[in-house]
Amino acid sequence: MSIFKIKFPGIVLIISLFFLSTNMYSQNLREDSQLDNRVREFLRSQRWYDMNIPSVDGQLLYDIIIKNNYTSALEIGTSTGHSGIWIAWALSKTGGKLITLEIDEGRYREALENFREAGLSEYIDARLADAHEMVKELEGPFDFVFSDADKNWYKNYFIDIDPKLKVGGCFTAHNIAEIGRGYGGYGGQADFLRYVRSLPNYETSLNTRGGGVSVSYKKSEK
Ligand SMILES: C[S@@+](CC[C@H](N)C(=O)[O-])C[C@H]1O[C@@H](n2cnc3c(N)ncnc32)[C@H](O)[C@@H]1O
Repeated sequence: MSIFKIKFPGIVLIISLFFLSTNMYSQNLREDSQLDNRVREFLRSQRWYDMNIPSVDGQLLYDIIIKNNYTSALEIGTSTGHSGIWIAWALSKTGGKLITLEIDEGRYREALENFREAGLSEYIDARLADAHEMVKELEGPFDFVFSDADKNWYKNYFIDIDPKLKVGGCFTAHNIAEIGRGYGGYGGQADFLRYVRSLPNYETSLNTRGGGVSVSYKKSEK
């Protein structure tokens, strides 16, 4: 019998135990099938027309939060609440809360109504505010951020939030394309992407399945 044959079952056992423990950790989530059904039904019943993200991007944000067990989230640019619902849905499972900022009163009010109808109000602190000022005032710390307001301010938002983002946390931004390519590859978005990529303590990737999302993980404080 070869050494490989003797060692093989042991290796399989170790790998299985590893995946079992990872799985057990990720299963440490609050399950509420009634809430899940209500949110799914609400998302299905709505037509999102107010500059809202596509569902595929909502799913991406949801997955990032669940995978990393994030609990303190900030969104800049609520609009009528589509992305907020995906984020808060994930936080309802991790035991977290979302602060979301919107400058337009009409959209803010519509978002409040949408959060209520989706059954997610208790996981959301929605604020009618100018994010240019509010982001500076918020204490944090945050472990998840979604930036989706005025694109020419993306880099400033990032600079203000960076000290309040935990190591291991994630900063995401919407409508980002590869620099010099398509909508999202120029102007404020390109300046932001160039900047975050220049930082050695962040690891950034682009997800281009929907409207273009940059995903930047903070690896260390500096
Ligand atoms: C692209 S929409 C956000 C869509 C939203 N994330 C969703 O998927 O449902 C951008 C929003 O940012 C808001 N906004 C723009 N500048 C802002 C500012 N300085 N402070 C707060 N909100 C701002 C706009 O009013 C608009 O509703």
